[in-house]
Amino acid sequence: MHPVNPPARLLMGPGPITADPRVLRALSTPLVGQYDPWMTSAMNDTQELYRGVFGTANEATVLVDGTSRAGIEAVLVSLLAPGDRVLVPVFGRFGHLLAEIAGRAGAEVHTIETAWGQVFTPTAIEDAIVRVRPKVLAIVQGDTSTTMNQPLDELGAICERHGVLFYTDATATVGGNPLEVDAWGIDAVSAGLQKCLGGPSGSAPVTVSPRATAVLDERRSVEAGIREPGDDVADEPIRSNYLDLAMILDYWGPRRLNHHTEAASMLYAANECARILLDEGIEQAIARHELAGRAMLLGVQALGLEVFGDVAHKMHNVVAVEIPSDVVGDQVRASMLDDHGIEIGTSFGPLHGKVWRIGTMGYNARKDTVVTTLAALEHALRRAGHAVPHGGGVDAALDLYGDRTVPGAPVGVPA
Ligand SMILES: Cc1ncc(COP(=O)(O)O)c(C=O)c1O
Repeated sequence: MHPVNPPARLLMGPGPITADPRVLRALSTPLVGQYDPWMTSAMNDTQELYRGVFGTANEATVLVDGTSRAGIEAVLVSLLAPGDRVLVPVFGRFGHLLAEIAGRAGAEVHTIETAWGQVFTPTAIEDAIVRVRPKVLAIVQGDTSTTMNQPLDELGAICERHGVLFYTDATATVGGNPLEVDAWGIDAVSAGLQKCLGGPSGSAPVTVSPRATAVLDERRSVEAGIREPGDDVADEPIRSNYLDLAMILDYWGPRRLNHHTEAASMLYAANECARILLDEGIEQAIARHELAGRAMLLGVQALGLEVFGDVAHKMHNVVAVEIPSDVVGDQVRASMLDDHGIEIGTSFGPLHGKVWRIGTMGYNARKDTVVTTLAALEHALRRAGHAVPHGGGVDAALDLYGDRTVPGAPVGVPA
């Protein structure tokens, strides 16, 4: 058995990324019982912080204990009863995941697909809504498998027009790309810490609108063992106990009905991630991601590499770089890791072996990390026998940064 003493790595893949040291410190703070008044007030604070992160007034803003996938599953299994129709526009691996989870919840799943590297027009989604008449539209905001960022700002009005609940998986986007839950009319959002929020995976912030909460209320069922006279007992309870959002909301709400044992360390981490973002300012953080993402994009292009997909719709925080035909992708990734201590990402499905995915997010959306990664990539490519211009990637990134810092960034937040 190895002691827990991992190697120093710079995580520049599509997530997880290197956690912010503030979050690591929060993770190591002492445990407190879940009904300790300090803890319940820390839970309330965390809810308020995530209202700020999501741009929402939703009372129902909580953490689901588990990775982002637990947040997705909690929303879908709780909103969708068996036989309910859901429309999932699929533009990458995580759209397929939403469809898979909804199907396992017993929903009647309808998908529309577009080529990987593209996004949908609002009209294409509205046409499908008219045809399918779903209860829920479930769509990923940023699909890390393709790096695409699906525009969501017009979908809320479309869903409202057709009486459809609007859910999005914002795991990869929140904190590094615009997301306005209330202004865009989104009914449910789930996320994770391990991308632009700069934390580890293991906690899934979720927010649910009053309209969607009303649907959960109809399915609410209080467990035998903690049930009191007058409590709801559903004939058809939500098909998961652990991920029953109605029960999770009762646990976070004023009754604090017992559900799971709070993952206190993850709560501390989630709280600190939100604080870091809000201390910096959401607009500042988005600007920092935009700048780092553009520097990485210009840097890889200056190395003579092609970028995959519709760059106009790329997330700020990840780029898919086409692997040159004269190198073996995994060998270059291994050289980045072994010789430079830098992790970049491989890819899935139709893109497997075709692109590397390089992330610039959360704590790692910085000038020094971009430049270090580009210098290492140049070296790894040359060593693998691929001709690259000397210093081109680093120069392109540095030229973009110039002497720029992100305007208004608090002291200590590097560009
Ligand atoms: C868009 C998106 N959704 C969901 C997930 C799944 O997250 P997790 O692995 O934390 O369950 C990921 C992970 O990369 C993701 O990028």
